[in-house]
Amino acid sequence: MGKSLTHKIIKSHLISGNMIPGEEVFVKVDQTLTHDINAVMTYLAFEAVGIDRVKTECSVSYLDHNLLYVDHKTPDDHIYLQSVAKRYGVYVSRPGNGICHSVHVARFGVPGKISMGGDSHTPHGGSIGMLCIGVGGMDVATAMTGVPMRLTMPRVIKVNLTGALKPGCNSKEIILELLRRVSIKGGLLNVYEYVGPGAEALEVSARATIANMGAETGATTSIFPADEQVRKFLASQGREQDYKELLPDLDAEYDDCMEINLSELEPLVSCPHQPDNVKRIRDVEKKPVQQVFIGSCTNASYSDIAKAALVLKGHLVNETVSCTCAVASKQIYKKLMQDGYIDMLLDAGVRMLEIACGPCCAIGQTPATKGIAVRTTNRNFIGRAGNPTAEIYLVSPESAAATAIAGTFATAEDIMGEEIWKLGEVREPEEFGIDDGMLIKPLSEEEGVEVSVVRGPNIKPLPIPDAPEQYLCAPISLKGGDNISTDDITPASAEFSSMRSNIPLMSQYCYHRYAPDFAARAKAMGKSIIIAGENYGQGSSREHAAINPMYLGVKAVIAKSIARIHKGNLINHGIIPMIFANSEDYQGLELEDELEIENLLEQIPTRTVTIKNKTRHFLFDVKLEITDNEMEVVLNGGQLAYLKKQLTKEA
Ligand code: F3S
Repeated sequence: MGKSLTHKIIKSHLISGNMIPGEEVFVKVDQTLTHDINAVMTYLAFEAVGIDRVKTECSVSYLDHNLLYVDHKTPDDHIYLQSVAKRYGVYVSRPGNGICHSVHVARFGVPGKISMGGDSHTPHGGSIGMLCIGVGGMDVATAMTGVPMRLTMPRVIKVNLTGALKPGCNSKEIILELLRRVSIKGGLLNVYEYVGPGAEALEVSARATIANMGAETGATTSIFPADEQVRKFLASQGREQDYKELLPDLDAEYDDCMEINLSELEPLVSCPHQPDNVKRIRDVEKKPVQQVFIGSCTNASYSDIAKAALVLKGHLVNETVSCTCAVASKQIYKKLMQDGYIDMLLDAGVRMLEIACGPCCAIGQTPATKGIAVRTTNRNFIGRAGNPTAEIYLVSPESAAATAIAGTFATAEDIMGEEIWKLGEVREPEEFGIDDGMLIKPLSEEEGVEVSVVRGPNIKPLPIPDAPEQYLCAPISLKGGDNISTDDITPASAEFSSMRSNIPLMSQYCYHRYAPDFAARAKAMGKSIIIAGENYGQGSSREHAAINPMYLGVKAVIAKSIARIHKGNLINHGIIPMIFANSEDYQGLELEDELEIENLLEQIPTRTVTIKNKTRHFLFDVKLEITDNEMEVVLNGGQLAYLKKQLTKEA
């Protein structure tokens, strides 16, 4: 049988392991990326390893998320990140150059490479036939040392796209339809590989929306073939020399397959408060909308913004709506200006924001109390926009523009009527104006070692966890429900994001919105254990959702299931991820119950741990769903201690 594209790329990077779904493999990583609000911990960890230069082909540090300098903290972070990049051979994309995923695929992406990024939407690069995986910052630090990266061999799911999107439907409809079908945890340990005539017709920017938001299914990543569309895209970036055709074999074997007929799709909306709560826009109650945001790495490409502008052309944003737009990169912004689309947006009353993530991660444009926000972003968790009373609905740029005009949920067709065909005419430019002036190139190794890393007062040391002990007796500091997101654990906003380099400060706001008394309680308990339901730690890759609890003394999380990236972050930062052997035991546990584990160090290698509830007098078992390598990391008390040991041994 033939090979899928995913298998071909993993095989070409395989260092060790069997490529059997669920088994651990180790692969060479070619590229890494980080962004400003997660990266300080990554580079502190890299510094702590003690090598002089990154060992990847290309590592890039993006300053793109928090560009609101409301006090000294974020500029402190940016100065640190710029200096540490110079010291160790990392590119820097300066503020204003664009959102990490959009810039990375345009200026650095190469078909067939493997990239790991400290952001859950790193799979964006799957749009050009790269295998791009979102991981925690400690994993990125590890990849930068050149050590082969562990990966649980995924199942590869063929997604056959047939038919064609109607004008007024965006590739956002395709990924929302997939989410509707598979749910926010249905993609766990899957790679979605898109093929078929519908996929062939999608330009790279449309593919990027799908690959990017595939993260919301919990998938390892998503990928499209490197075909003629990719050649055209790289040519538009002046990089045709980086193109090579990479396709799955015609008789490729897949672990499963599904089909989406694009001709049958209608404008869709993901309703509060989970991305898989997908409905047809025409079926949603016509509530008054207070805010519309068009932007983010998911939907701020040239075509996305041009189509939104065409819907808005000749109209005015409804007086009840605040409508803002943030374009994904400087090169796209300039091209949209040249082609007249920015004028259309301004004339319609859209407020153009700076080129950044901004409102997507609650950095500005917080909705009003109980406000309804309609966004082209990828997540609608409670509080994601900075206000837990708000409702967030996720739609395409075309539908967002129509909604801004109507003041309630609407589609492009509602506004444009027979003129809707105009949207089908929009194409990505054949040529972008290439200007890499906002990319700072790495210095040579000799020059780098002379650079002093600048640490302002916001840069606090990376907390190092203790290795597990033989005996653990600790109370439950939190009993949470299903689908707790990393936004619940470590809230987003300009203010909170700027604290992420300062764990003593940030940890005081751990679970700030979900359980406001958690931080004080966990600290008072000294050591504690968190209990949760299904899909614990879904969403953003931010490892602060592991570091902050660890800093507050959390030793283990016992959940019904744990999201992939967050499980890795817990392991990397010394918290043992445990899964109920019998999920009904969840019911018998209450806040502050005292849990006792004896012979923990002997129990860990068996992957089953027996726990005694000393308060309610019963025993229950938990499973450790970890690979051999992850077990080593757990027993060493986290990835940094393990990595240092490994590198010392090699030396
Ligand atoms: Fe930025 Fe939002 Fe994407 S925070 S990287 S635009 S998911």
